[in-house]
Amino acid sequence: MARTKSVGSRDRLDRLYKDCCEQSDTFAGYPCNTDFDYSELFRFLDFPLNNVGDPFNPCSYHLHTREIEREVLQWFADLLHAPEGDWWGYVTNGGTEGNLYGLYLARELHPRGMVYFSQDTHYSVSKNLRLLRMPHIMIKSQLSGEIDYEDLRETLRIHRDVPPIVFANIGTTMKEGVDRVDLIQEMLDGLAIPSYYIHCDMALCGMTLPFIDGAPFFDFADGIHSLSISGHKFIGSPVPCGVALALKRNVDLIARSIEYVGTLDTTISGSRNGFSPLILWHAIKMKGKRGFRSEVARCIGNARYAVERFESVGWKAWRNPHSITVVLERPPARILDKWQLAVQESTAHVIVMPHIDREKIDALAEDLERCRNEAN
Ligand SMILES: Cc1ncc(COP(=O)(O)O)c(C=O)c1O
Repeated sequence: MARTKSVGSRDRLDRLYKDCCEQSDTFAGYPCNTDFDYSELFRFLDFPLNNVGDPFNPCSYHLHTREIEREVLQWFADLLHAPEGDWWGYVTNGGTEGNLYGLYLARELHPRGMVYFSQDTHYSVSKNLRLLRMPHIMIKSQLSGEIDYEDLRETLRIHRDVPPIVFANIGTTMKEGVDRVDLIQEMLDGLAIPSYYIHCDMALCGMTLPFIDGAPFFDFADGIHSLSISGHKFIGSPVPCGVALALKRNVDLIARSIEYVGTLDTTISGSRNGFSPLILWHAIKMKGKRGFRSEVARCIGNARYAVERFESVGWKAWRNPHSITVVLERPPARILDKWQLAVQESTAHVIVMPHIDREKIDALAEDLERCRNEAN
């Protein structure tokens, strides 16, 4: 195995490693779980694993993990009630790619379609829409982060001659607001709109809400057409990854066969990471649905604790029901920097992922308290 030759290069890597260790101790503002151990998989890094093209088609590139990828997809298809025999999907490079895929599919099916999405939608979606040159309208959000249904209804009514493509958030980035797909469908039916497309962005909450009894959650059982989940968020992964799933009957309409790689060019990128399916597979096998359910319950309990703890030191904080995202009054820059908190205007958020335990919440609350005392 090749090693860096010069002492300078080694020192550089050692310093970077030390910095990563330190930063991961106070990594509280982004929805990426740092609590994982995939050391069993390290030996696979010796190969140029590449799941080029469609995971369900044979391919002339044989260093791949497609069988493992299909098992991962099957697990997500079961979890998210994809109709048996009528779903398709692949392991992506992350939530953004899965959303791009869903929008691409929607555009191919409805070339004249208009995309509706809320103000609280992830920033990457506007870029995706520009890339795809899809006409779109941003709808107001409620304070919870959920879409404003009145604004959506009125906008749909005005454009009722154009097929709607609804980009629904099943957990927004800043507040984990959930767009009620059932209400949106009622609205579409009420306006007598016969043909529409619903894509759900469940980057984080696709792995939390299915494990919380009574939580609002929408998947294929509720008539959605495609979805995207990030793998490096709740599950946790050293490299970004995710899962895109869609109805097969729609995907089949746009598949193209490519002779050079001997497979179908159904995915957004041609060459695809063959290592990330192993990561997702490992997590699923180690934890199973029961393991994820108990991990989610622990995070919800800790998120509740975080709100109480921050409020106890006089720092305003709240969360949506069933949410592991705690929204708080924007702290000063040194706290934002230390705890790597994402901000939006006067608020910031802490995401109570599996690695954020009560000890870390206490430490952050103490920092906030010191800040409050200094200000008085
Ligand atoms: C709601 C939502 N959608 C999409 C994304 C983008 O996902 P990724 O970072 O996996 O590309 C994020 C990332 O935070 C998100 O919160």
